[in-house]
Amino acid sequence: MAHIIAIVNQKGGVGKTTTAMNLSTALAACGKKVLLVDFDPQGNATTGFNLDKSSNKQNSYSLIMQKAVIEDTVISTSVPNLSLIPSTIHLSGAEVELVPVMAREYRLRDSLKSIRDQYDYIFIDCPPSLGLLTLNALSASTEVLVPLQCEFFAMEGVSQLLQTVKLVKRNLNPNIEVGGVLLTMFDVRNKLSGMVEKEVREHLGRLVYKTLIPRNVRVSEAPSHGKPVLLYDVACAGSQAYIRLAGEMIRRHNHLSNAKVGVAA
Ligand SMILES: Nc1ncnc2c1ncn2[C@@H]1O[C@H](COP(=O)(O)OP(=O)(O)OP(=O)(O)O)[C@@H](O)[C@H]1O
Ligand SMILES: [Mg+2]
Repeated sequence: MAHIIAIVNQKGGVGKTTTAMNLSTALAACGKKVLLVDFDPQGNATTGFNLDKSSNKQNSYSLIMQKAVIEDTVISTSVPNLSLIPSTIHLSGAEVELVPVMAREYRLRDSLKSIRDQYDYIFIDCPPSLGLLTLNALSASTEVLVPLQCEFFAMEGVSQLLQTVKLVKRNLNPNIEVGGVLLTMFDVRNKLSGMVEKEVREHLGRLVYKTLIPRNVRVSEAPSHGKPVLLYDVACAGSQAYIRLAGEMIRRHNHLSNAKVGVAA
């Protein structure tokens, strides 16, 4: 059964999509079967893979509106082992269109059920808000990954986000955990990055991944070439960091499942 991981931060531009694309690619390169759900009306992950955002194709909007079955929404990417459910701007209408619908928070969870056993990892790239789309993602997920940009206001909004996850766990999805916090756009030449790292590690402790994602121009160039950075320049510091992150995530999951077996025994 796949780990279902929502990549969430209501702050914009912190590296959610970049992490969704490149962590998915790195795990696929390790031989894992991965599905990335573009659940942001901006559709950045879809264009980042040079895939079609045209509205007449099946996508995450048709999925959540139950106008398509999930098998018809999944498309291949240029990365072996990595599939994508694309998004379009129409998804922005779903928040309003679903208002009168019963159990609207569970639309994505219910859709993913039938294919969950076909993947090792399912990532959900969320929009920068805590609205109904993000709530659907949290209701469907086994864990949350929170990217934090190494900037002055990095921690702003984090307690609200963690509180939201707590409420979701209590009311909608008892299986959800905060899987980890990822520091992104770390700049070694900027003293502030180190200070932010220290503060975040002090506050959030072991939740924070050891791997730091450096600010790296190759990472920001890759989407305009329609590729994850791992395909654009595998040797660059950004690609190498995402490969390390994939390893760290796999080790965390192995450690957790061993611990569970230990408890059961
Ligand atoms: N490690 C990095 N080094 C350099 N640039 C980066 C890095 N990570 C992300 N960026 C750039 O920062 C911008 C924001 O990143 P991204 O789109 O991943 O954030 P996001 O959280 O998904 O944004 P949104 O909230 O709008 O969905 C993009 O232009 C991206 O290319
Ligand atoms: Mg994004």
